[in-house]
Amino acid sequence: MSKPVILTGLRANNDLHIGNYFGALLPLIDMAKNRADEYEINLFVPDLHSFTTPIDHSTLYEQILHNVRLFAAAGLPLDHPNIHIYRQSYVPAHSELTWILDCFTGFGEMSRMTQFKDKSQKQASIDLANADDAEHHREVARELFRSTSVGLFNYPVLMAADILLYGATYVPVGDDQSQHLEFARDIAERMNSRFGELFTIPKPVKEQHEFFGKDQGLRIKDLVDPTKKMSKSDETGRGIIFLGDTPEAAAKKIMGATTDSVGLIHYDPQNQPGVTNLLQILALASSEPLDSVIDRFDGQTSYGALKEAVAGSLSQLLQGFQAKLSEVDEGALMAKLEADEKQMNETANATLLNVQKAVGLRI
Ligand code: TRP
Repeated sequence: MSKPVILTGLRANNDLHIGNYFGALLPLIDMAKNRADEYEINLFVPDLHSFTTPIDHSTLYEQILHNVRLFAAAGLPLDHPNIHIYRQSYVPAHSELTWILDCFTGFGEMSRMTQFKDKSQKQASIDLANADDAEHHREVARELFRSTSVGLFNYPVLMAADILLYGATYVPVGDDQSQHLEFARDIAERMNSRFGELFTIPKPVKEQHEFFGKDQGLRIKDLVDPTKKMSKSDETGRGIIFLGDTPEAAAKKIMGATTDSVGLIHYDPQNQPGVTNLLQILALASSEPLDSVIDRFDGQTSYGALKEAVAGSLSQLLQGFQAKLSEVDEGALMAKLEADEKQMNETANATLLNVQKAVGLRI
């Protein structure tokens, strides 16, 4: 028996921040390292998904490679035979299986996907930012049809193909993606019941959470408004520390972080969200257990000293990360990508051929 497959898509995202790093990237890399002896681990860049909403195509190719480099810099082992990294568009079977699955997918089924509804409405509202209120509602509805791509609509089917081609059982996804995972299960069951055992059915969301542990790292908050999650949609960037920030710029943002007027350091997410956030960042950046950080600072009166400690360990972390990023062995990385893409094409094509036979395209 071959090993069970863990698979996930790593979105190409230009400006990863420490919230992504501590909350998603590191847990994923730890998972890959810890599980690689007993599972096949497929980590791919969903490059075809990346323009379901408008992007700058002139930088896409470089951005995809940059992302793979970030993973390497964050410690993803490139030499483990069970860890596979690849770019979705380099395995054409993803697109071919998508088309076939499309023809067994309901229009209504896709229309109900919340990510589609949210993103298409957001896109339509951006395009209509200047429309006045009275007209707004109807106009948004019209604009929705004009500016939303069929690619965005179809997003979950491509995602199902990503998963089903490799017989993946475990798929770590955030809450925003669990509906898509449920769809992958549905379409797999639908195809299996109609055409025989074509696909491995991924585990349901609940079992995914049990397998991976629901607590996907801590949520880092925005430095300016610590009641909000740190998120790249903050326009000013003052509340966010990007992995590419210079250590000096990061230290400055920490020193300027919003705190409160209590005057005593307590870990209290409700009443002292700013101070609490700083304690959490310090624990993560210095790899010290949160409890021991809290022990050290609880009851102290100087927020400045806490900020200096956070700024110091964060600067060190960024320096280390940026040094690793500049040392990523480009040749080894490309060789790994190409070898894995070759291997993934073999696996994916074997699944695709079974499906093509089942639907009557091949004998
Ligand atoms: N949609 C996922 C996200 O936005 C990325 C993704 C694409 C993915 N294909 C996938 C994740 C397949 C898991 C499995 O994060």
